[in-house]
Amino acid sequence: MSNEPKFQARSAAFADLPPPDPAAQAQSERLQQLIAGEMAANGGRLSFARFMDLALYAPGLGYYSGGSTKLGAEGDFITAPEWSPLFARCLARQVTQVLAALGSGDVLEAGAGSGVLAVDLLEALASADCLPNRYFILERSGELRARQQALFKKRLHHLQGRIVWLEQLPEPGFRGVILANELLDALPVHCFTLTEEGAVERCVMRENEQWQWCAAPLGDAALAGRIAALRHDGSLAAGYTSEANFAAEAWIRSMADRLGAGMILLIDYGFPRREYYHPERTGGTLMCHYRHRAHADPLVLVGLQDITAHVDFTAMAEAGHAAGLEVAGYTMQASFLLAAGILELMNNVEDERVRLQWAQQIKKLTLPHEMGELFKVLALTRNIDGPFLGFALRDLRGRL
Ligand SMILES: C[S@@+](CC[C@H](N)C(=O)[O-])C[C@H]1O[C@@H](n2cnc3c(N)ncnc32)[C@H](O)[C@@H]1O
Repeated sequence: MSNEPKFQARSAAFADLPPPDPAAQAQSERLQQLIAGEMAANGGRLSFARFMDLALYAPGLGYYSGGSTKLGAEGDFITAPEWSPLFARCLARQVTQVLAALGSGDVLEAGAGSGVLAVDLLEALASADCLPNRYFILERSGELRARQQALFKKRLHHLQGRIVWLEQLPEPGFRGVILANELLDALPVHCFTLTEEGAVERCVMRENEQWQWCAAPLGDAALAGRIAALRHDGSLAAGYTSEANFAAEAWIRSMADRLGAGMILLIDYGFPRREYYHPERTGGTLMCHYRHRAHADPLVLVGLQDITAHVDFTAMAEAGHAAGLEVAGYTMQASFLLAAGILELMNNVEDERVRLQWAQQIKKLTLPHEMGELFKVLALTRNIDGPFLGFALRDLRGRL
């Protein structure tokens, strides 16, 4: 085996970064053998969705299931709750409104990452005297679950009794708020390309010791149906490449089945369908993160980098609506945070250093060229009446 790090052969974007350490490389090798084994048993190729699922979540080896530091300055990317506790404090105000309207209830956070949102949110809810009965966490990665548990032990020991890590979805009849920040973008997507002869699915194969894209006939009826709907007005030309996130739609359906009363609150980056599948967005939205570099090649650094796709919020709203939920709010992250009072949080801060830090964090969370406009907030509700606090400034449901 060559000593040259393999990722340098594929992408100049990493030329100035040190290669992954030997342990990380060895883990990636094991993961790639596992993927290659499944691929061989599957006729020599895998759908990209299956490749992404294994690359991110193969037990003990995938990006989220392995031991690397993923989130935060030491990791590969930084999410809103990692940037600032003000994010959780604003969410807490929306959660408080829902729990108060229901009389009481629970919170369920799906995909809790490092656990920092859960800790900051519970602290904010405690100071508003609005703690949920229980705070459930649904986390696919055993490694991240262990990190979350360690963080709780350190920062919220007194509330530990309220926190429950779920092994499976909650029972139907859940009352309260189901919350997910940057979960949907981390679910595996199907990829496709349009050709003169019709659409093909973009699959993955292995050739000359490297992962390669390959085309396959559309095997999946849902994908064929989605592409046919997207093509109906003839605006998408041959060569057009994009993705569809059926796993996210299924996730919303399964949560809708459990929600008896309350809100599913989703925050992620993405667009309504018209923008997502804009004829000029010819290459789709796949994006990878490795040591704070963003690039678009998911077939390198297998298991060592995050792989994401933006969210089609129209599809998410449709999935919720079809499952009997009300689309109660859709807006940009900036509008949501401003409506939830992010600026007022500065009012009582006297320490000049903290004020400065918070001002920087507010800019990061709300400015249009930072996270303010690309990130959206979607509220799906059942058996609870709005209007809801976070959506009071700007209602963008008409764009979905
Ligand atoms: C991009 S991270 C976001 C982490 C955190 N919410 C934040 O904002 O910092 C995605 C998280 O979703 C988790 N995840 C992915 N698929 C999941 C699923 N089906 N159920 C629960 N958690 C999942 C990952 O393990 C990870 O914790």
